[in-house]
Amino acid sequence: MALYPKPAEGSWTEHYPDLGTGVVSYEDCVSPEFYEVEREAVFKRAWLNVGRVEDLPRKGSYFTKEIEVADTSIIVVRDPRGRVRAFHNICRHRGNKLMWNDFPREETRGSCRAFTCKYHAWRYDLTGKLTFVQQESEFFDLDKDDYGLLPVHCEVWAGFVFVHLAEEPEQTLPEFLGPLITPLDGYPFDRLTERYDFRADVHCNWKVFLDAFQEYYHVPVLHSQEATPAARSRMNGFEAPHYQLDGPHRMVSTSGAPRRLWPADYQYPIEIATRSGLFGPWDEPDLGTELGGTNPGKVRKWAMDNFQIFPNMEILIWASGWYLTYRYWPTSHHTHRFEGTLFFPRATTASERAAQECAVVMFKEFALQDAGTLVGTQRALESRAARDDFPLNDQELLVRHFHKAIADWVEEYERRTVGV
Ligand code: FES
Ligand SMILES: [Fe+2]
Repeated sequence: MALYPKPAEGSWTEHYPDLGTGVVSYEDCVSPEFYEVEREAVFKRAWLNVGRVEDLPRKGSYFTKEIEVADTSIIVVRDPRGRVRAFHNICRHRGNKLMWNDFPREETRGSCRAFTCKYHAWRYDLTGKLTFVQQESEFFDLDKDDYGLLPVHCEVWAGFVFVHLAEEPEQTLPEFLGPLITPLDGYPFDRLTERYDFRADVHCNWKVFLDAFQEYYHVPVLHSQEATPAARSRMNGFEAPHYQLDGPHRMVSTSGAPRRLWPADYQYPIEIATRSGLFGPWDEPDLGTELGGTNPGKVRKWAMDNFQIFPNMEILIWASGWYLTYRYWPTSHHTHRFEGTLFFPRATTASERAAQECAVVMFKEFALQDAGTLVGTQRALESRAARDDFPLNDQELLVRHFHKAIADWVEEYERRTVGV
């Protein structure tokens, strides 16, 4: 794994010669043809996070996940032995979608003892075995053992449930996550179970939005109205103190002590009233000192880590004792569904709850500011007036790395399958 300290001279980017420092193309965000290849080359060849173990609190708990980019829906379930399994959400009789509620295209969740098809009542147990066929004797040589649910590879790491849609993944989940991400399993994710979920259908390519969360060059400009003049002047010239790349994954740390702002920095009275804000509740939970693989650069006054797990997941961990996940699910070459979730310790008092909710609405406001540029960016990119010579600066290292990782995966896939 490449790990470099900030050079006394030069740039972060120049420490990764493979990336170069040249201009980049955004054709990968506008081309329908590229999207079609990306579906196969990336989303059917990478481990994808679909949820957390807290989504499956007991045996028989299940949820479905629509993965449009791979043209499939899956069921994730905790089986009678407690193991988390995943299956394609399709009945083996005549292909009815097995689990859905009011609307077949929408996700659902709940708990059950068996999955029963709404069409002719074939039934499957929680391990996927076909256990009941209506009027079985009318079939011809039907062996129920041959018609279990179609399994999807499913592994759990640090409480995060991942699936892999290939018939045979090339790497196990820990191998895929590698040495930059796996040490995070020492972080107490299991203690942060108070969660707030957002989702939005966004009219831009999934990578355009993901890019907005992997550089801080935009913060003093795009989010300027969120800060008081005093805070704004300190943000100008902001530079992150640590970046790290490993395989297709990447991370950036920030420093400072944002939770101990000066009173003049608070923009809203509600921040003072709830003792909370964008950087989370001010009264920090005691999570101990073992915080897994956070702050890998040993940054002084560490404030936050932003881990980007290839291809479409981000885990953002605040030193003040909470974390967020973002996931970006493509729905076409120029649309995607964004999912953001905030995780806090279980609130035990009304004021703890109010502090969390203040952080949540502040997050939402910031995310809306980020999202506000996206439709315009997508439309401008699609004009192809400026085509493939976008300059990226040193703070946009992760953007550069991300598009290179995507290109590498596509190239490797094409080399293997088409021989190009
Ligand atoms: S399609 Fe499911 S039982 Fe017939
Ligand atoms: Fe932003």
